[in-house]
Amino acid sequence: MFYETANHHGLKHNPFKAIVSPRPIGWVSSMDKDGNLNLAPFSFFNAMSDNPPTVVLGFSGNHTEGGPKDTLHNIEQSGEFVCNVVTYEIRDAMNATSEMVSRNVNEFELGKLTAASSSLIKPPRVQESPVNMECVHLKTIELPCNNPDAKNHMVLGQVVGIHINDDFIKDGMVDMTKFHPLARLGYKDYSAVMEVFSLDRPDQAAQDLRMK
Ligand SMILES: Cc1cc2nc3c(=O)[nH]c(=O)nc-3n(C[C@H](O)[C@H](O)[C@H](O)COP(=O)(O)O)c2cc1C
Repeated sequence: MFYETANHHGLKHNPFKAIVSPRPIGWVSSMDKDGNLNLAPFSFFNAMSDNPPTVVLGFSGNHTEGGPKDTLHNIEQSGEFVCNVVTYEIRDAMNATSEMVSRNVNEFELGKLTAASSSLIKPPRVQESPVNMECVHLKTIELPCNNPDAKNHMVLGQVVGIHINDDFIKDGMVDMTKFHPLARLGYKDYSAVMEVFSLDRPDQAAQDLRMK
């Protein structure tokens, strides 16, 4: 099949997010200027460069109470946020924090999660998550949006500090078979990394660079 994205795809459900998958999940903790905490998952999330480490988040649509989603609002107001990694073991807590609730609700409570102090920034991290990346806001870019009543945005952030639970480090590497990062597929579907295989790069220089 082929479809122009300006037209309907003709399928029962939109295939786009199933095609661009698996996507990692940035579970973003943030704080507004009054110290109110917020936590929500974002699968329009990825690393864009690694020196310095830089991440991207995509925000689709608005908060149901109007204006940007709380996470975007807080990132722009405070200039800081934490991208916590979601693992298979904490999938239900992550899901609980995705509910579109009133602005004053602290989703750490919805997920029965612990807010642990960050080292370099004010918003706390999720203690139950094995990896927390402390980020500072670099830039927000408005993206095209087909809904005239909403807006889409892309946020770039620089990772300034990374917490890794030592239990997940083996032989100087993050042990993915223990880590089980969760990934978003399309529809209601998820996947988790349970198996790993390695490939040697054809040139040694690229191999060395990858391991740095
Ligand atoms: C796994 C998962 C991934 C999500 N990814 C995104 C995303 O990339 N962008 C987005 O705008 N909303 C995404 N959502 C929905 C938001 O988490 C949801 O709108 C949330 O209520 C926003 O909360 P906030 O207003 O506190 O920021 C996702 C939800 C789930 C469960």
